Amino acid sequence: MEDDRLLRPDLEDLSEERLETSLRPRFLNEYIGQSKVKNNMKIYIEAAKKRKEPLDHVLLYGPPGLGKTTLANIISNEMNSNIKVTSGPAIEKAGDLAALLTNLQEFDVLFIDEIHRLNKNVEEILYPALEDFTLDIIIGKGPTAKSIRIDLPKFTLIGATTKAGSLSTPLRDRFGIVDRLELYNIAELAFIIKRSAKILNIEIDDESANEIARRSRGTPRIANRLLKRVRDYAAVLSDGNINLKVAKTALNRLEIDEMGLDEIDRKLLDVMITKYAGRPVGIDALATTIGEEVDTLEDVYEPYLIQIGFISRTVRGRIPLPPAYEHLGYEKL
Ligand SMILES: Nc1ncnc2c1ncn2[C@@H]1O[C@H](COP(=O)(O)OP(=O)(O)O)[C@@H](O)[C@H]1O
Ligand SMILES: [Mg+2]
Repeated sequence: MEDDRLLRPDLEDLSEERLETSLRPRFLNEYIGQSKVKNNMKIYIEAAKKRKEPLDHVLLYGPPGLGKTTLANIISNEMNSNIKVTSGPAIEKAGDLAALLTNLQEFDVLFIDEIHRLNKNVEEILYPALEDFTLDIIIGKGPTAKSIRIDLPKFTLIGATTKAGSLSTPLRDRFGIVDRLELYNIAELAFIIKRSAKILNIEIDDESANEIARRSRGTPRIANRLLKRVRDYAAVLSDGNINLKVAKTALNRLEIDEMGLDEIDRKLLDVMITKYAGRPVGIDALATTIGEEVDTLEDVYEPYLIQIGFISRTVRGRIPLPPAYEHLGYEKL
């Protein structure tokens, strides 16, 4: 992973996927934070088990790196069921989805990541599958073609997306459980960092865990990434254990500022304050001005800047708030 992608939870590589698998909590009681989602999920799971029925279909949405994939796996563990994992773009044809569905066992979880990227033909196969656990398929071609209906095993679909707004209404309406994951607070992130450190056999004190947490943009994926980087610095700069001095030195050398902002955040805020003089500005104009994709700004940058109170979304556009002026060293007019 390149350093300039350190704070981009939407970008991952293969080596990171392996690390994440080892750090992923496996059961709800190990899943830190998101208490509202967790408490609801506990009840739904218990109720489904009591009824001896599969869990209702679940839609998880929220910014990248907050634990959607983790939670999907936890749900299947808690239900004692198997999970089949795929993603919207991986299912190209209606037939691909039909094959997936007919291979499911009763009570299986089908996890479709990036479900907003399913294509229309595929999506239409999904509706009856979700509603009545049936599949309508056409056999043959031309005038002799006929449609037959197959019964599917009762399964649970878990969809994950960073863009709930891009989901079609009929698809969205077929999820009985819809949960939004929120950015984590510093205490929760520090807890996650200490848990990961234990698994990776890293010695870290509370102060250092807090320091890393503060710069993790509310995102567990970034917290784990920074922990790993700081560990490398600790091995070179000291005895391998992480203390506050090593943590600060490492994070500063990685050019992550006290609030976890990177160059693009600062550019974004700077443009809002100077070029647009603090007046409301649309996301498209901002994206064009700083040369970033609208999606990246909306999914990755904006949620964190809103959480820390640096920007606000108004009906007329985004505006910078006083803490942003202060952080960048500007006087608010
Ligand atoms: N609630 C949590 N508690 C502990 N670790 C978490 C939690 N949520 C996410 N993580 C960690 O963050 C990493 C990224 O989570 P992931 O589920 O892959 O995010 P998403 O699918 O939303 O992009 C996981 O490997 C896991 O170690
Ligand atoms: Mg994921």
